[in-house]
Amino acid sequence: MHPGAMGAVLAGEASVPVMWASEGRSHQTAERAGAYGLVDQGSLFDLVASSEILISVCPPHAAVDVARQVERVGFDGIYVDANAIAPATVREIATRFERFVDGGIIGPPPTEAGLTRMYLAGEDAAAVAALWSGSKLDARVLGREIGSASALKVAYAGWTKGSTALLLAVRAYAEANGLGDELIAEWDVSIPGLADRASGTASRIGRKAWRFEGEMAEIAAAMEAVGLPGGFHDAAREIYHRLSDLKGTERSSVEDVNRKILRP
Ligand SMILES: NC(=O)c1ccc[n+]([C@@H]2O[C@H](COP(=O)([O-])OP(=O)(O)OC[C@H]3O[C@@H](n4cnc5c(N)ncnc54)[C@H](OP(=O)(O)O)[C@@H]3O)[C@@H](O)[C@H]2O)c1
Repeated sequence: MHPGAMGAVLAGEASVPVMWASEGRSHQTAERAGAYGLVDQGSLFDLVASSEILISVCPPHAAVDVARQVERVGFDGIYVDANAIAPATVREIATRFERFVDGGIIGPPPTEAGLTRMYLAGEDAAAVAALWSGSKLDARVLGREIGSASALKVAYAGWTKGSTALLLAVRAYAEANGLGDELIAEWDVSIPGLADRASGTASRIGRKAWRFEGEMAEIAAAMEAVGLPGGFHDAAREIYHRLSDLKGTERSSVEDVNRKILRP
């Protein structure tokens, strides 16, 4: 539930038949589901009734809502939440199910071996990992503690997506002062590669930023839960929020990104 860019490829790599529910989902999601061989059960009710394992791979801000919908239907199989959410959120979701596995995905959709890991934690983690045995997804069991797979993902994405937001912000700051070219020239001398990372990031961020906003809020909360400041990732959340209406833009320019960040 529900096959996005990541979920559809994970489903295609699984060694068992995978189903989904088309009710309420977009044409793009239906196309992806068809392309990766998922069998449509129509409604969430029918999907839940005919599944032994449910895997939630949806936008982070929707994870709790998706779990609530399944709880309302009633499910006694293994519920896997593999979304980028805080350990406290995942533990709250876990209270809704008898059998629960916490998951954290690192890497792009697994179209080649060696690109993507799915960390799994919980009593049934090994049974879930076995679904991808011998596939392009490297499914790794972390242990039994619910929240540890999500905590690893928080630490990983806290750096990758947090530093990306900071890079976009300082690039826009230089531009606001009329010093964009001078900053690029200085980076080329003292931090080789950073100018390319900044422009490459700007071009790809438009279509993903809306999804990162919720993830940054989860990371800020996770940081605060262990006594660290949440402010880094709260600021990153605000940067992605300002970019969120670029959703659907295949390639965004540095100018588009600067304009959105500087004039919300
Ligand atoms: N893509 C990656 O490289 C990557 C990497 C690591 C982890 N992940 C994790 O994988 C999860 C999904 O990412 P993705 O890249 O697959 O996202 P995506 O391509 O944007 O797909 C999201 C899917 O969720 C559905 N959806 C949207 N809003 C929803 C809602 N409110 N309730 C239920 N379903 C909803 C969408 O269906 P409709 O279009 O029909 O609304 C779509 O099929 C995230 O938790 C993300 O952190 C992704």
